[in-house]
Amino acid sequence: MLRAARGGVRLSPGPGLVLRPSPRPGPGRPPPPRRLLQQAPPPVVPPAVGRWLLACSGAVAGAVVLGGVTRLTESGLSMVDWHLVKEMKPPRTQQEWEAEFQKYQQFPEFKILNHDMTLTEFKFIWYMEYSHRMWGRVVGLAYILPAAYFWRKGWLSRPMKGCVLALCGLVCFQGLLGWYMVKSGLEEKPDSYDIPRVSQYRLAAHLGSALVLYSASLWTGLSLLLPQHKLPETHQLIRLRQYAHGTTALIFLTALSGAFVAGLDAGLVYNSFPKMGERWIPDDLLAFTPVLKNIFENPTTVQFDHRILGITSITAVTALYLFSRKIPLPHRARMAVTSLLAVACMQVGLGISTLLLYVPTPLAATHQSGSLALLSTALWLMSELRRVPK
Ligand code: HEM
Repeated sequence: MLRAARGGVRLSPGPGLVLRPSPRPGPGRPPPPRRLLQQAPPPVVPPAVGRWLLACSGAVAGAVVLGGVTRLTESGLSMVDWHLVKEMKPPRTQQEWEAEFQKYQQFPEFKILNHDMTLTEFKFIWYMEYSHRMWGRVVGLAYILPAAYFWRKGWLSRPMKGCVLALCGLVCFQGLLGWYMVKSGLEEKPDSYDIPRVSQYRLAAHLGSALVLYSASLWTGLSLLLPQHKLPETHQLIRLRQYAHGTTALIFLTALSGAFVAGLDAGLVYNSFPKMGERWIPDDLLAFTPVLKNIFENPTTVQFDHRILGITSITAVTALYLFSRKIPLPHRARMAVTSLLAVACMQVGLGISTLLLYVPTPLAATHQSGSLALLSTALWLMSELRRVPK
């Protein structure tokens, strides 16, 4: 996680250096030792930087939701090439649309799945993918342009500069990863009887890197804006903080495993809960060889793992909540831990409903957004509990 503790992120002292009133140096008097020089508190990073980072995390959340809807409406493979600038202009004339449609017709998704698709239907999936890609560009600019402005203004401390560079690098990487993912769905696979879809590994990498970008921006923004509590460093508080970190990591892992469920359409293999079909542990759990392959490629195992991780997450959140009740906490930290429990219950409820109702698009998209809400609440709690630097 990028470090940017509030009050810890300060601009370099520069002109803020002042001298204590000292006896005038004279011929017999040595100049005051350097450690008597006292520094005026250096200015903190302006709150505008924190607000910008929160807005960026909001923009990334929008891209994640839009990406989920694009995938759920099976629109993600409609644009079959990638140009950073040229593709920003959509087809205008009938001729341009037909040329675009013809390009799509050369690829497996049209040949195997959509061979009876009309131009009007194609326009819908094309615009879905186009809006996701355009939103991605907006997100990129939302990071890069203000970053350059704040840098020039000298509003970024040294650690913040590193932080901002990493975030800008990550946003560019995210775009490249998106195209790398789409490419895997455009390849002809003559030996495969499977429907054309992107690689679940690349989907998980694309979602995972979006979640890292989102979390890092939100965490840094919150660290800059939220006033810190001076909590007494008791043994219990240290343990609570460790639990909160562990639970956040678990939620992140659960969300990542959700990408494998989505990528393999594994939400459609067993649509019952709590059992999978008639059994607690389905027969085909280890059907693939070697055994390890099941974890990422067998839809049954992928769904099973996601259920286990989801249930472990809600159990961890409940335990965290119960443990927090024993410790005196400031009002905001108490609110964060209670909200975490509420959002976790909602997220698990949404996951189960998505499964039981055979993955309807609105519910599946809400479940995906719920994972962002859950991760955000966990990061908020971590931010409330963070250690004040001495
Ligand atoms: C802490 C709890 C959970 C988190 C953070 C979480 C997160 C996610 C995420 C991020 C996705 C990927 C969505 C996408 O890319 O479109 C997903 C998919 C899915 N999750 Fe969960 N999930 C949780 C619990 C559950 C539970 C308990 C169930 C059901 C028992 C469940 C069922 C599903 C299903 C069926 C999908 C596939 C939806 C699709 O194909 O789009 N989830 N989950």
